[in-house]
Formats: sequence, structure tokens, C-alpha cells
Amino acid sequence: MSQVNHVWRLRKRPVGEITDDVLSLEVESIPEPGPGEFLFRLNYLSLDPTNRIWMSDMDQYMPPVELDAPMRGGVCGTVVKSRHPDYAEGAVVSGLGVWADYQIGTPQFVRPLGDTGPVSVVDAFSTFAVVGPAAYIGLLDIGQPRPGETVVVSAAAGAVGSIVGQIAKIKGCRVVGIAGSPEKCAWIQDELGFDVAINYRTQDVARALAAACPNGIDVYFDNVGGEILDACLKLMNFKGRIPTCGLISEYNAEIPVPGPYNYSMILMQRLRIEGFIVTDNLERYAAAIVALSQWMAQGKIKVRTEIVDGFENALQTLKKIYTGANTGKLMIRVQDV
Ligand SMILES: NC(=O)c1ccc[n+]([C@@H]2O[C@H](COP(=O)([O-])OP(=O)(O)OC[C@H]3O[C@@H](n4cnc5c(N)ncnc54)[C@H](OP(=O)(O)O)[C@@H]3O)[C@@H](O)[C@H]2O)c1
Repeated sequence: MSQVNHVWRLRKRPVGEITDDVLSLEVESIPEPGPGEFLFRLNYLSLDPTNRIWMSDMDQYMPPVELDAPMRGGVCGTVVKSRHPDYAEGAVVSGLGVWADYQIGTPQFVRPLGDTGPVSVVDAFSTFAVVGPAAYIGLLDIGQPRPGETVVVSAAAGAVGSIVGQIAKIKGCRVVGIAGSPEKCAWIQDELGFDVAINYRTQDVARALAAACPNGIDVYFDNVGGEILDACLKLMNFKGRIPTCGLISEYNAEIPVPGPYNYSMILMQRLRIEGFIVTDNLERYAAAIVALSQWMAQGKIKVRTEIVDGFENALQTLKKIYTGANTGKLMIRVQDV
């Protein structure tokens, strides 16, 4: 076991895009677990759009990270010292932790990953911890798609969006994905079976959507907010549903983002828009993971992960998410399990 710890601390709240001075990487001592706690070493760090929310002091669903505190993140690690009877040394754990090589875990936030069966630890962490259940719960519980309906999803080649589109296809829907590069559009259409892919960086989204959705939109799974949400609102059908999963186009905004111009469609078409945070629905995780595992084993759902080596690369790698430079679920590998 190393004699020193490496910890990323939040030094400044970002204004606009994340800059290099927002976090600093420090060399520190390794903490000692107290009674009921355990010490674990990081294997994988999940990098997520929500990291930008936690860095800021905008209104949010959890308290923001305190200035000078370790950065918060999704973590997967191995227990190296334990003072908790249910966490044996060598156990693989995952949950909500911090950006630190070695850190203290408690059962409230970090749980054993358990037997992942035929699924590798890295797939179990990358797909089943957050993004897979978010796609499953958001689409099926809130979106409630019916066969033959039109489902539109934004950030469609991303970790959540790519799974949403594939579940919608399994449910017999017509699926339109909106993504930010020709390569991403080709992937969702040619490999994942989406019916139409729209490149929002090169196409007029409102016009392309109208052409792609001749019967209107029944479910819009929103990962981005902003202008794409507005364009979708305009095409929503009577009693349409909009699961609000994320608003990534707005996370780096320096001034408040105006509300959608097509807000009136909520009334005119009697729409239901519902925001959700996946971890509020832990009771749905088991069903989500069983279904996702089966679909993955049957080849009906494909996932892409982008794994970058080196804890020191966490900050630079995180920036990729907000420019669309990531291809799939983005993670840092500190060391293999
Ligand atoms: N509610 C929940 O519980 C929950 C859980 C997980 C994630 N989320 C949310 O779900 C969304 C997707 O997360 P993810 O983990 O799957 O990330 P991801 O899609 O793998 O990565 C984010 C993608 O967003 C797209 N993007 C970035 N800036 C954009 C902009 N200005 N306009 C349109 N698209 C933009 C980029 O793809 P392009 O190349 O296509 O631009 C980027 O690759 C995020 O909003 C996130 O906050 C919510």
C-alpha cells in the first residue's frame, strides 16, 4: 500500500467552462478508518456531467461541494482496511465518494458491488451504477412509451441517451436521436438501430425534427435542455411526456438561461414534464439491472465506455464531456480491479 494519498480538491467555483484552476491535485496522508468505517483504494472514477453542477453553487439536488473540500464523484474501489463487519478487505465497492486515491467509506454512500455474474466489474460500474438505471427508469416509468410511438432523445450517443434509444426500439417505438458529430450519428443509426439521427451541430434541428417526426413526438427524453428542448416542445403530441434527465447545454451558462419559447405547448397539448434523479428510485434498480443485463446478453443493448488511464488526467478528461469529445461512459482507471 502506498504511503501517500492523492486528492483532487475544489479550489474555485467555475464560471462558464471548467478551467485548470478549478481543482488542484494534492499529495496528502492516507486517512484511518474509524469504527464502522472502511478505507478503500480507487480503481475507477466516473466522470459525469453532474460534476459541473456539484462544483457550482447553483440551485441543485445535493449540497454543492465545499470550497477546498475533495471533489465528489462516482467511485469504484477495493477495501484495503476495514472496521466494518460487512466490508471485508479485498471487497470491491462502489457508490458516491471523492476524487482521492484512498478514501474512507461508510455503508450510507458506498456499497459492495457484489457478484456481477457474467458482467465484468467495469461494465457493472459504468452501466449499472447510474446511467443504465437512469435510462430505464426515466424512459419507462416517466416516458411510458407505447409501441408505434415516436421517441426523441438528445445526447443520443452518450451514456444515458444511447441506452434510452435502444430501450425505446425494444419497446417497438420509432426512435430519433440527436447527437453532435457524423461519427456519433452513424453509430446510433447503423449500429444501434435508431430510425433517424440528427446532427445538431450541422443541421437545423427544428426543421430536421419536423421531417424526422411526421406524426409528432410522443416522448422526448431530455438530456440537454435549451434550444433542443424548445424545438421538441413545438412538435409534442397530445398528452406527450418529457422525462427531464439532464440539461447539459445549460450547465456552463454564465447568465441565466431563458425559459423555452414554446412553453405554451405544455398547456395546449396537456404535456407532462417530470424531472428525476435516478438515485431517488433505488427500489427500481433491481428491475433495471435485470432487464439491462438480459438485453445486453442478447445483444439488444450495446454500450460504449471511454476509459482514460491515470488519476492525474481526471480534470482534463472531465472537460471532454462538455464539448462532446467523449464517446460513451467516461471513466478514469486508477488501477484495474
Ligand atoms: N437525472 C439523473 O439521475 C441523471 C443521471 C445521469 C445523467 N444525467 C444527465 O443525463 C445527461 C447525459 O449524461 P451522460 O452521463 O449520458 O453523458 P454523455 O451523454 O455520455 O456525455 C454528455 C454529452 O452531452 C452532449 N453535449 C454536451 N454539451 C452539449 C450541448 N451544449 N448541447 C447538446 N448536447 C451537448 C455531448 O454529446 P454530443 O457530441 O452529442 O454533443 C456529450 O458527449 C446529462 O445532462 C446528465 O446530467 C442525469
